[in-house]
Amino acid sequence: MRDEIVLLIAVLFIFSGCIQPEEQQVVTESVVSAEWRPDGVVSENEYSHSLKLYSPARQGYTGGVMTVSWKIDDEYLYMALNGSTRGWLAIGFEPSEWMKDADMVLGFVDGGARVLDEYSTGNYGPHIEDTMLGGTDDIMEHGGRSYGTHTVVEFRRKLDTGDRFDKVLRPGQSVSIIWAMSDRMDPAVKHNIAYGEGVIYLGMAQSSVQQISQNLTQNDIEWMLFIWKEEKAARDLYESLYERTGLTVFLDLVRSEQRHMDQIGALLDRYGIGTPVLERGVFDNQTLQSIYDEMLSKGRSDLDALRAAATFEEISIIDLERAIAGTDNKEVIDVYSGLLAGSRKHLRSYVGDLRDMGIEYAPVYLNTSEFEEIMRAA
Ligand code: HEM
Repeated sequence: MRDEIVLLIAVLFIFSGCIQPEEQQVVTESVVSAEWRPDGVVSENEYSHSLKLYSPARQGYTGGVMTVSWKIDDEYLYMALNGSTRGWLAIGFEPSEWMKDADMVLGFVDGGARVLDEYSTGNYGPHIEDTMLGGTDDIMEHGGRSYGTHTVVEFRRKLDTGDRFDKVLRPGQSVSIIWAMSDRMDPAVKHNIAYGEGVIYLGMAQSSVQQISQNLTQNDIEWMLFIWKEEKAARDLYESLYERTGLTVFLDLVRSEQRHMDQIGALLDRYGIGTPVLERGVFDNQTLQSIYDEMLSKGRSDLDALRAAATFEEISIIDLERAIAGTDNKEVIDVYSGLLAGSRKHLRSYVGDLRDMGIEYAPVYLNTSEFEEIMRAA
């Protein structure tokens, strides 16, 4: 069954029209040469990576930009948040769903900088300090400053703090993140400037940087292109299902799929391969065209649209697992792993929405034990 799925989707050729993602993200990498200082100034070459996160104005939100910069060594994560606010700004690591179970760090500058080690126990909070949950404050050093319309906070924590309210971070890991900003300093007041999600690749500790092979196999290249197209298929499908049903979950996940495409696209670019220009919803194969059309026509009701989307995520999970098993390239595996975590999260979202509507979704392609394990995963 699995072979058929891969074969089927592998020949899927979608011509898709680009929609402009509402949230844009730009990643930069540099070689660290400056000493890390938690002084609220992000100097050139102080961090190895940075990700610029942007969220436009929407109802209840003025819109804003936050740049996350980070580096790791064998023991610590060093991070800076620089956002367009004079209130609080925050990052959350590895939420299970929405804000739930995110290991959060929230900072603001009120005279001096405050950086709080928090955890969100529910979908929309509350997020409270780890110490109030029986955990520990693991922000080992911090600092920050406000300038003009912006605030910067910097902090250092252990990759593995030993606190159950902190996620264990590992060199080479891709970590899913959420972020948010408020114009108020009170951490109990909800974000009103911007919020969003993303993935950060932690990178390798400088001391253990290994030569990552630039020599991809033909199989790696084919899989990477295929996975990019499959993420694109998901994006196109959800975009069409959103137009049809108006369910906002589809709009949210269109953005997420766009980010997945961008991540694998960036890797393809780095290897000099590039991605094709394809239009939305058109296939060069009659059988596949029929499948796509069938998925769309099945999605006429809200319930059936959610069912079709959940089924698509199942296929995506199976293909990503096969892609991971089929390569030894660590960099590629890291990107696939981030996408796999995203697909599992999407499947949980769709199944959760169906459950809220009184429908128990039964897996179509995944075996029951894997499906249940994904549903249980935090
Ligand atoms: C100050 C307390 C907070 C409250 C009361 C709160 C409440 C909420 C609520 C009600 C939503 C649903 C969307 C909306 O109403 O606009 C939401 C969404 C969200 N929040 Fe918070 N939040 C808080 C802090 C945070 C923090 C610190 C972060 C990031 C570290 C964060 C990240 C997010 C994200 C990413 C979403 C969107 C979830 C999704 O749709 O995927 N929130 N929050």
